[in-house]
Amino acid sequence: MLGGGGREHALCWKLAQSEAIAKDGGKLYAAPGNPGIAACATLVTLDEKDHAAVCKFCDTNDIGLVVIGPEAPLVDGLADSLRKAGIAAFGPSKAAAQLEGSKNFTKALCDRAGIPTAGYVHCTTLEQAKDALSGFSAPFVLKADGLAAGKGVVIAESEADAIAALEEMFGGAFGDAGAEVVVEEFMAGEEASFFALTDGETVIPFGTAQDHKRVGEGDTGPNTGGMGAYSPARVLTEALVAETMERIVFPTVRQMAQEGTPYIGVLYAGLMLTDEGPKLVEYNCRFGDPECQVLMMRLESDLAQYMLAAAGGSLAALPDPTFSPQTAMTVVMAAKGYPGTPEKGGAIDLGNAEGAGAQVFHAGTKLEGDTLVANGGRVLNVTAGGADTGRAQAAAYAAVEKVDFPSGFYRKDIGWREIERER
Ligand code: AMP
Ligand code: GLY
Repeated sequence: MLGGGGREHALCWKLAQSEAIAKDGGKLYAAPGNPGIAACATLVTLDEKDHAAVCKFCDTNDIGLVVIGPEAPLVDGLADSLRKAGIAAFGPSKAAAQLEGSKNFTKALCDRAGIPTAGYVHCTTLEQAKDALSGFSAPFVLKADGLAAGKGVVIAESEADAIAALEEMFGGAFGDAGAEVVVEEFMAGEEASFFALTDGETVIPFGTAQDHKRVGEGDTGPNTGGMGAYSPARVLTEALVAETMERIVFPTVRQMAQEGTPYIGVLYAGLMLTDEGPKLVEYNCRFGDPECQVLMMRLESDLAQYMLAAAGGSLAALPDPTFSPQTAMTVVMAAKGYPGTPEKGGAIDLGNAEGAGAQVFHAGTKLEGDTLVANGGRVLNVTAGGADTGRAQAAAYAAVEKVDFPSGFYRKDIGWREIERER
């Protein structure tokens, strides 16, 4: 496993339960991992940018599969380097990871494959982008083209705000990611996340979730990587899942294969559920974080078996995976200051938070001596299940309350939308 956040902890936790690994006498390594992951995998130090070193480690340790957690090493071509060295990897090639790495790549692919998404204009100069605004109406959606750690999207309420934002983008506010900008039609609706596994040809649905991106209660304040999530996303009904597969995910995987850049791994579709049906907001080439944590809580099938089949081109031989009908919820405990500069080093005592079936996934922690301390913005993902969203929420917050983390904070309303619907 490459990575060291809450997503990777959840994946390692699930992989450690795998019979496919156990029967092989298999061992699980994580680089860099974190103190939570240390309970289910052996931690190693590897520089993910040094592809030769990663390949050499895999060779020496007879690694049967490398799971690449975050997007950066994927966009950097680590999966290509591994495959070239004959090592199986779960994750797309550099060319296929452009689905996340370049907004314009994805928009153009949607055009070629007739996939429903917001109308757009790709702009390489400030003048062109300003001109493009006249083709849209407020609110204006502006996106820096490259990877910008989720911060490259501006939704401007007025034309003046849009121009100011464009000036910043072309002025280098997002570094290289802002050298090209996509101006997009605003789509109104509710957002939901849809996951699919693919070996390049066969595609299987792999669960749904919704997250809360804003830092504050009632979905207010600055954007974050996600302050909490729950699965399933009940707004994505069976009919909408079928429509999403048919109109968005299948055509994407087919088009990628036809163009000689087959997509292998998990495809995460950010959807807007509009009056005209689901439309693609964006693709990510990895599991969502913290969406992965709730998917893993519900997954009943053997994760390693599915990842091996995706990496090895044999997904067609597997039955559809099964997920618990329960709802899982995760509450992110973040360090004060996040999403600005988070307070580092605050002590954490997990107490017996994992008592009643809850799981605490470590997102940004480290050990100082015997003390667990905060080491990042999002620090813990406290995750629990229940018969419905209300009960999952009660279980998750009961566990949160057992955690002693004075320099942390969390949102108290994760799942509010779904809970209102349940009432
Ligand atoms: P992205 O990085 O493309 O996922 O965009 C970040 C967030 O901006 C999304 O999760 C949406 O909430 C919002 N967003 C992006 N594109 C649009 C759009 N065309 N219409 C409405 N909201 C959007
Ligand atoms: N939670 C949103 C993401 O992983 O992109």
